[in-house]
Amino acid sequence: MNLTEEQLTATLAGRRIGFPVHYFPEVDSTNIRAWRLAMADATEGTAVVADSQSRGKGRLNRAWQSPPGVNIYTSLVLRPRIEPAAAPQLTLVAGVAVAELLTGYHPPGVTIKWPNDVLIGGKKVCGILTEMKSTAAGIDFIILGIGINVNTGRGDFEPALRETATSLKIVTGTGFDRREVISDLFSRLEKWYSVFLARGFPGVRETWLHYADILGRPIRVVFKEDSSCGVVTGIDDDGTLVMQDARGGYRRVVAGDVYLLKG
Ligand code: BTN
Repeated sequence: MNLTEEQLTATLAGRRIGFPVHYFPEVDSTNIRAWRLAMADATEGTAVVADSQSRGKGRLNRAWQSPPGVNIYTSLVLRPRIEPAAAPQLTLVAGVAVAELLTGYHPPGVTIKWPNDVLIGGKKVCGILTEMKSTAAGIDFIILGIGINVNTGRGDFEPALRETATSLKIVTGTGFDRREVISDLFSRLEKWYSVFLARGFPGVRETWLHYADILGRPIRVVFKEDSSCGVVTGIDDDGTLVMQDARGGYRRVVAGDVYLLKG
């Protein structure tokens, strides 16, 4: 079903997260639009939703494939009163909200891959990109961008993505009304964002660990210049992954791509 601003507004009116909502049939990137709105004093919870993106942004300057008519591309303006150093934790909070959302549609095997992917059956179904503007006084705003592959068909992915990406429709065999999924997404984000603001990452950690299913598992972390292997021993209060290497030393992982190894 097509999205319209009228229907989205009627669905989201008065919400703390997701309203006001700005809808575009096509944008460069919802993160770019949300950033502009935030610079023009958009209030916390303001949402940008697009049917397609011509310059969808992924992490590490990668592109996010954003075809029309099938998926969710959205960005929220957040203005949390937290230290700038705590901002990356919002990616983990959003991951929990998305994992919970997708689990509600009963696909088998929803997992979170640290720090910002949600997978179904080991294939990526959602990516999260947070961007922040801060000053010496603290955070001005955070743009929380979320892309979810909802109704993409198996053959619709670029060849390079076919082995690594999936959609809710592919794994369940059913198409979904994107307006309902967006509404559910914003409800779950509102819930987990409130928990995070009240209790910090410790309030989210148990659920994050449940979905990440990574404790005690061997991983390889690929950094810019090198890579390192170890066994995950926990995730700190600040969202840093902690692993123990073969020599028994502990390493805190704040960036990089994490791959589960067969253990
Ligand atoms: C990643 O996995 O690398 C992050 C992907 C984030 C994609 C979403 S789609 C909506 C929002 N707008 C963007 O340009 N990017 C994010």
